[in-house]
Amino acid sequence: MRVLMLNGPNLNLLGTRQPDVYGATTLADIEQMCRTHDPDAQMSFVQSNHEGAMIDAIHAAKTDHDGIILNAGAYTHTSVALHDALASVEVPCVEVHLSNIHAREPFRNHSYIAPVALGQIAGFGAQGYLMALDALRLHLVD
Ligand code: DQA
Repeated sequence: MRVLMLNGPNLNLLGTRQPDVYGATTLADIEQMCRTHDPDAQMSFVQSNHEGAMIDAIHAAKTDHDGIILNAGAYTHTSVALHDALASVEVPCVEVHLSNIHAREPFRNHSYIAPVALGQIAGFGAQGYLMALDALRLHLVD
């Protein structure tokens, strides 16, 4: 199973960014947790603060990845372009959020990613990425 884990804006700051909301785990920690959790998965890790670079990464995943785990950060709530990119490549995608976006400010309650994702995991902190890996593996085996 070849998985692209794509993290969007400000997620490079995990560990120091609002730890009360997002936890103390860094993105590097999360990547290591994923490798340990599913050693057989071939993981690619991409983080970008730029919407266009994220779109390019999604397009590229069509040729060499079986699934995408996506935390689009704030672009979740704004980006029709990311929605369209996912719809275009038809690579199965699990949407992840560290925080429960449905229990926060109203502007975080809507996701442009959700309609083109297999499903959404939100509110479980860094563990959510491991849940997403499990979900993707189960989906791809079926
Ligand atoms: C986030 C939630 C978003 O609303 C926010 O803009 C982020 C992180 C999360 O993982 O909880 O950057 O995607």
